[in-house]
Amino acid sequence: MIVSPSVLSCDFGNIERDTKMLHSSQADWLHIDVMDGVFVPNISFGFPILDAIRKHTDKVLDVHLMIANPDKYIQDFKKSGADILTVHFEACPHLHRTIGAIKELGMKAGVALNPHTPVSFLEEVIKDLDLVLIMSVNPGFGGQKFIPSSVEKVAKLSDLITKSGSNAIIEVDGGVNFETGKLLSNAGARALVAGSFVFGSPDPLETIAGLKNL
Ligand code: DX5
Ligand code: ZN
Repeated sequence: MIVSPSVLSCDFGNIERDTKMLHSSQADWLHIDVMDGVFVPNISFGFPILDAIRKHTDKVLDVHLMIANPDKYIQDFKKSGADILTVHFEACPHLHRTIGAIKELGMKAGVALNPHTPVSFLEEVIKDLDLVLIMSVNPGFGGQKFIPSSVEKVAKLSDLITKSGSNAIIEVDGGVNFETGKLLSNAGARALVAGSFVFGSPDPLETIAGLKNL
């Protein structure tokens, strides 16, 4: 299992300390949630924070854009060190072009689906994608309750990926813990994002190691 702890739940007053902790952990990627207060009802952070994180780790930065009109900023996220750039299906009227623009800059391209968006909407682009991010909460906030139907959705996506011969990785985001993580893993998820579960635990390093071994 690929583990991608969400920096959104870290202590921003100690971002250097927390980034170094994640760097020394068994986490494969660092999940970076960018929110604009337009696409989602919350604002998180932007480029200066990404730059600060990039300074303290060379791990894969898994950047999740919860912003309207992401096309405008693709180049800037590349400059700030994004390795994987994931945009929301619901924010991209010209998704095929957006995916192409991300890959052209040498980043991996991901598409995130809100809980109400069916996986079948990805049929025409699935072969072009490196990653699909299934949202198992409505995006905008950490610490929300896991939506149980996400497990079935992961299984459906896994089918679509197999049938189409796509190499896309299935990642899941929201309410992940050992219990939901196990169900998702059995359904075909290959990467798990976890924010409050990691940072709210007494020993984040051990929690990350536990998720890795699900
Ligand atoms: C939610 C974000 C998530 C969030 C997950 O909009 O996309 O990445 O940090 O937080 P937890 O793991 O606490 O549900
Ligand atoms: Zn996220």
